[in-house]
Amino acid sequence: MQRRDNPYTPGAGRRPPLLAGRDRDLEDFTSLVEIVSGGGAERSLIFYGLRGVGKTVLLMELDILAAEAGWATTDVQEVGSQPDFRSTFAQMASRLLREMSRRHRIKDRVDRALSVVKAFSVVTPGGVQLKLDVEVAQGVADTGDPEQDLVDLLREIGETARAAQSGALFVIDEMHNLDSSSLAAVCMAFQAVSRARLPVALVAAGLPDLQVRLMKAKPYADRLFEYRELGRLRDVEAHVALVKPASTLGVEFTRAAATEVVHLAAGYPYFLQEYGRELWNAAETSPITAADVAEVRDLVKEQLARTFYGPRFDMATDAEQRYLVAMAAQGDGPYATSAVSSLWGAADQRRTSPHRDSLLQKGLIWSPRRGQVDFTVPLFADFLRDHHPLERFETPS
Ligand SMILES: Nc1ncnc2c1ncn2[C@@H]1O[C@H](COP(=O)(O)OP(=O)(O)O)[C@@H](O)[C@H]1O
Ligand SMILES: [Mg+2]
Repeated sequence: MQRRDNPYTPGAGRRPPLLAGRDRDLEDFTSLVEIVSGGGAERSLIFYGLRGVGKTVLLMELDILAAEAGWATTDVQEVGSQPDFRSTFAQMASRLLREMSRRHRIKDRVDRALSVVKAFSVVTPGGVQLKLDVEVAQGVADTGDPEQDLVDLLREIGETARAAQSGALFVIDEMHNLDSSSLAAVCMAFQAVSRARLPVALVAAGLPDLQVRLMKAKPYADRLFEYRELGRLRDVEAHVALVKPASTLGVEFTRAAATEVVHLAAGYPYFLQEYGRELWNAAETSPITAADVAEVRDLVKEQLARTFYGPRFDMATDAEQRYLVAMAAQGDGPYATSAVSSLWGAADQRRTSPHRDSLLQKGLIWSPRRGQVDFTVPLFADFLRDHHPLERFETPS
């Protein structure tokens, strides 16, 4: 097979040749857009799951669907890189307004809304100054209180969208990066536009504890949004994700080969893409057989170690690495923090809690419940046991 025809797409946020197992999410989103466009209320969607399950590419797809329905969209925006989340929202808002003015001739209304965006961004400490060729609005979105100002900003977007007979979609990725007060402001603002039946919606994604973080920020967040877990694909879906892209190009898999890959990839979309790519490059002829799978197996493992697990492990300090390795040494998660701490070599759990917190902060682990931790990357424990056994780590002094 020609390498240049390889249809597989391993990597972060790379749109797969076939989006397997997401039909229901796409349908529900389409009906959300219809309902909200018609002045109805429907809960916005929040997706959560481990790394590599397909959160980002699903958001990309929803962004396209909304645009096709005539909505203005922000495109997928990763939050958390700016010191203040309001800078990201100001940028998203101005982008939405520009799109609305391009598609619908409502320049005056958009200019008025842009002056509100300007007011909003002026009060953001250390914010990026947007180049907006309008006066600063007075008395709207400029109190300096993030909750109140974000409510004003979203209302303005919603009213402008309504005037344009359109809608506005915010698409937020890595939402777990936002701190509690930022999440609270986001909840409050989306509740306000939903109450006012304005055509504004949110689709967001983040790590598995995103829902808990939102509920801690605002208790009503559990009813405000619809939460969807993204995990392993079911066997049939994983099968299709692997086999279909090749068969479209005239290359088949034997049944045994496909079953073996689905098993090795444990149904994780990212791993399926990685196997698909290597198999395509390695196999001489169609159909791809179980012997081909056996041949690329180590290559794929190496590839994952180098590109997926390795760089994440390197993000941790020595003491944090020891913490990760002590987790993995206990089998599969979730892990009790007390047990991890003693295996780490701490006499007192307080000794390891800064390391645990820093790993949480870096998004390498998450906490399924109080006193427990688990990896955010699928099958990380297997990688660590193979490549970094605890015995090889020095005992902390
Ligand atoms: N539904 C799917 N079907 C097939 N492949 C997918 C699917 N979702 C994601 N992928 C592939 O999985 C990988 C990870 O996707 P990504 O959206 O970056 O995951 P996440 O954002 O959850 O970390 C990419 O290589 C992508 O092409
Ligand atoms: Mg992602």
